[in-house]
Amino acid sequence: MSTNKLDNSLTGELEVLKQEGRAKSPERIIEQYIPPKGELGPRYKMLGSDNEFIRLNSNSYLSLSNHPGLIDAADKATHEFGVGPGAVRFIDGTFIYHDKLEKRVATFVDKPAAKIFNSAYTSNCGLAISLSNKKTHWIGDQLNHNSIIRAMRISNIPRENKGIFKHNDMVDLQRCLDEVKFDIERVIVIFDGIFSMRGDYAPIHEINKICKGYDSKFKDGVITVVDDSHGIGAYGDTGRGTPDFCNASPDIIVGTFGKAFGVNGGFICASVPIIESVRQKADTYIYTNPLSVADCAAATKAIDICDSDEGLELLRNLKDRTAQFRQGLERLGKESIPGPHPVVPLMVRDTQKTHDLVRYLFDHGVLVVGLTFPVVPKGDETIRFQLNACHTSADIDYVIELLNNFK
Ligand SMILES: Cc1ncc(COP(=O)(O)O)c(C=O)c1O
Repeated sequence: MSTNKLDNSLTGELEVLKQEGRAKSPERIIEQYIPPKGELGPRYKMLGSDNEFIRLNSNSYLSLSNHPGLIDAADKATHEFGVGPGAVRFIDGTFIYHDKLEKRVATFVDKPAAKIFNSAYTSNCGLAISLSNKKTHWIGDQLNHNSIIRAMRISNIPRENKGIFKHNDMVDLQRCLDEVKFDIERVIVIFDGIFSMRGDYAPIHEINKICKGYDSKFKDGVITVVDDSHGIGAYGDTGRGTPDFCNASPDIIVGTFGKAFGVNGGFICASVPIIESVRQKADTYIYTNPLSVADCAAATKAIDICDSDEGLELLRNLKDRTAQFRQGLERLGKESIPGPHPVVPLMVRDTQKTHDLVRYLFDHGVLVVGLTFPVVPKGDETIRFQLNACHTSADIDYVIELLNNFK
């Protein structure tokens, strides 16, 4: 047997993607991490380039990935139990470090219980599988992350049991709630905490209030779910994310350990019966190996740091650098989307100029992401900058000066 025929078909399909401008460019490869020195934050060497790069496209908002405390925790756990779990959670693949992380993250976000997953992506999919039955209706923000859209698709509910409201539009959310059929028993309203392409946030206090008004109409009520992958650790006065910022907690919190916490893996935090349903029903929890003990130990340490004076100091630097960068953009008269989150979009509003600016920054040692159609609508072409706690004032000045010199 050969795959020649399939290879030919796939080559044609890939060509179509290219022609439509939807093909991903080759991945750049990081080959060296250079620790901070003096006035400069960390730098990265990329395969094929002699430059040393500032990373302004990393989700590691608190810069914990290289923290000695996390590395030691991962090291210790690995030396105790080895590198892999050897089995899924139900077949004695549950180690003390899994249990500790679940308890730690639940306490951190102030929910009774938690389950951890390999990623936030698989957490969303697992949640949708666990909560959905024939009488469930899902409602989501139009700009929700792909993992939520995918989760709603695999939840096996009929098309008419889904509603999408315009981004952060509370009147449209009410329209979606008004349209739910009378025989529905359970309504789930799900939204990103921080919208990763824009850095703006869901007004959880308003969403909760609106949903509460409809709760008594349905046997199991209206349940609010935030996926706060970009908010947890990086947002709010104590780094507890968008609920902290809005001073309002949704019923269920999904998140990742792979962004501000600097590690890997996802979680769902909620009531004990919801979490037990996830444990019993979520395929993406049951039929796959869990995180390594190294990931769990490092993530637990990351939460401990986030929940300490050191974490508050990192958060303060993150806020200061974000404010410095935003003020720099403002001084140059550049357009952005306002907000205090470390995702700072620079609205370029032109495809070629976006590509040119990404290239120019790369040539001057700065890694950023350009977002063009179809990732964003035509006319909304953007460069996404992501500030991290390890960036220094000198790093930010350097990037602002580069932007000033770009013609
Ligand atoms: C809202 C949201 N959910 C989920 C994810 C995926 O997180 P993970 O890498 O843990 O799967 C992302 C990250 O891109 C995200 O922005």
